[in-house]
Amino acid sequence: MTVAVLNSYSGPDAIRIEQRPIPTPGKDEVLVKVAFAPINPSDLATLKGTYGFKDPTPIVPGGEGSGEVVAAGRGVMASYFLGKRVACAGWGTGGGVWSEYVVKSVKGGVLPLHKSLSLEQGAMSLINPLTASAFIDISKKGGHKAIALTAAASSLGQMVNRLGRKEGIQIINVVRRDAQVDLLKAQGADIVLNSSETGFDQELYNACHHTNTLLAFDAVAGQITGQLLKAMPPNSKVIVFSALSRQAVQVSPSIIIFENKMVDSFWLGPWISKQNILKIMLLWKRAQKQIPSYLKSEIRKIYPLQEVKEAISDYTDQMTGGKILLRMS
Ligand SMILES: NC(=O)c1ccc[n+]([C@@H]2O[C@H](COP(=O)([O-])OP(=O)(O)OC[C@H]3O[C@@H](n4cnc5c(N)ncnc54)[C@H](OP(=O)(O)O)[C@@H]3O)[C@@H](O)[C@H]2O)c1
Repeated sequence: MTVAVLNSYSGPDAIRIEQRPIPTPGKDEVLVKVAFAPINPSDLATLKGTYGFKDPTPIVPGGEGSGEVVAAGRGVMASYFLGKRVACAGWGTGGGVWSEYVVKSVKGGVLPLHKSLSLEQGAMSLINPLTASAFIDISKKGGHKAIALTAAASSLGQMVNRLGRKEGIQIINVVRRDAQVDLLKAQGADIVLNSSETGFDQELYNACHHTNTLLAFDAVAGQITGQLLKAMPPNSKVIVFSALSRQAVQVSPSIIIFENKMVDSFWLGPWISKQNILKIMLLWKRAQKQIPSYLKSEIRKIYPLQEVKEAISDYTDQMTGGKILLRMS
């Protein structure tokens, strides 16, 4: 089988395409013939060794994908999955999914795909749809009628906007380019602020106070985390869930101390493991139904696995405007 292998944590140049024997599933494991996998920001971080998992190299990258279960190891659950189309997670047994075949544990490594979903959409059905659902869940639980969101024109940001509108939650969208303002406004977003514009801080302050926004989800980190916290009313919280700026969070201590504001974090895996299994199954079932609408990801281009480096380069040149998928065979 053809596999993309990362030989050192030094970025896409360290990826080699290799041929390897097809693995055999053990007890409670299945063999998935992988169909598609997106390139996500977390994959870029993995290639550089800055993501939350850092196994010794060589590793197979790829945080999520879709495919069909073509062989099952021992166990009732493994047999249940045989012949099923699944979403598969890159974490756990077998590592990443940028590979023609992967062995995955049936305990969290694969989830059955709803029959209405294409394998292309199924490949992107785990990370962003569950994160967007989690953000809305957290907002509703905290009684928030308005939230702020950075990198809001991302695939995830667009999902949060659609779900937020459905749930009656006002979103203060923060983007960094005019084209992203236009994109979100064309999709029905009410408030979209460009952080590169002069006067941004005041506009953000006005928007946060006008809507009483006490919760923000920040994918950028660096300066913007402090700008958000400063603009929000007392007792606010910014949840940092990525660091697209690759900078440390910059927050004035006086804001934290005297205005009772705080910085928190979110990572999907640990968040899922804190929920009860029933809730997660319901979340997955609902997310599956919503993927064709609220939780849809646009696809900009599909590359064969052999062209993974070109695909990554295309993605890093233009992240907004649809996902780049890898096709495994
Ligand atoms: N913590 C978690 O569990 C979790 C789960 C899911 C997603 N995430 C994070 O959520 C974010 C969005 O993911 P996605 O898959 O939806 O991304 P995506 O569709 O690939 O889009 C990435 C977006 O980030 C913007 N961006 C990149 N660098 C930026 C910077 N320095 N400042 C401001 N904006 C920047 C891009 O804008 P340009 O076009 O201008 O570059 C683009 O709109 C990522 O950071 C991802 O890691 C985290």
